[in-house]
Amino acid sequence: MAVVALVPAAGRGVRLGEKLPKAFVELGGCTMLARAVDGLRKSGAIDRVVVIVPPELVESVVADLGRAADVDVVGGGAERTDSVRAGLSAAGDADFVLVHDAARALTPPALIARVVDALRAGSSAVIPVLPVTDTIKSVDVLGAVTGTPLRSELRAVQTPQGFSTDVLRSAYDAGDVAATDDAALVERLGVSVQTIPGDALAFKITTPLDLVLARALLISETE
Ligand code: CTP
Ligand code: MG
Repeated sequence: MAVVALVPAAGRGVRLGEKLPKAFVELGGCTMLARAVDGLRKSGAIDRVVVIVPPELVESVVADLGRAADVDVVGGGAERTDSVRAGLSAAGDADFVLVHDAARALTPPALIARVVDALRAGSSAVIPVLPVTDTIKSVDVLGAVTGTPLRSELRAVQTPQGFSTDVLRSAYDAGDVAATDDAALVERLGVSVQTIPGDALAFKITTPLDLVLARALLISETE
């Protein structure tokens, strides 16, 4: 049963505010993208990786990461869903696909392996989650609070998210709706999505503070 990992890395990283697109920012001498690909390999659970990068960077990534036999490189789109869609069309006849943000560069390989284990055990959609620590409010456009969902029923969602390839393809074929998360598209099909425990180290590097944390973690690792 072949497993292909799609790695969306075509975002601009507006919130991070660095000069380079976010996935190409270095962490301890290695780009976030290279670290994410390395983590997928170290899981021992992935047969092939498709990285999705800004179109103008395809050539340079092909000459670098793309030299490896197990890595393919495609150009992404304006929204994350456009990028994942481009990756899916390069996933071939894989039985399972994982979608894993390059921005979750420090994700432990063991978490990646656990997502694949859950797919092999029969789930057709699997997402790693953590309890939320802040109370979450919903608000209207003017900022007035419209509700307070019960915190014990909320989870923060991470990647890699794993799917039967057929299920994710159907979800993407079903419409052109944007989503920040692939599982949301699968939920709309009425397919049950299984959660498994995530890992704090799979946090998404989104803001400058996240980058400080990621770099500090790498320094403490080598001490
Ligand atoms: N991504 C992508 N294509 C896009 C947008 C996002 O492949 N059009 C990827 C990012 O490169 C990242 C992952 O999706 O690895 C999660 O997105 P996010 O953290 O939002 O990254 P950016 O979109 O780059 O950041 P920002 O929203 O701050 O611009
Ligand atoms: Mg984004």
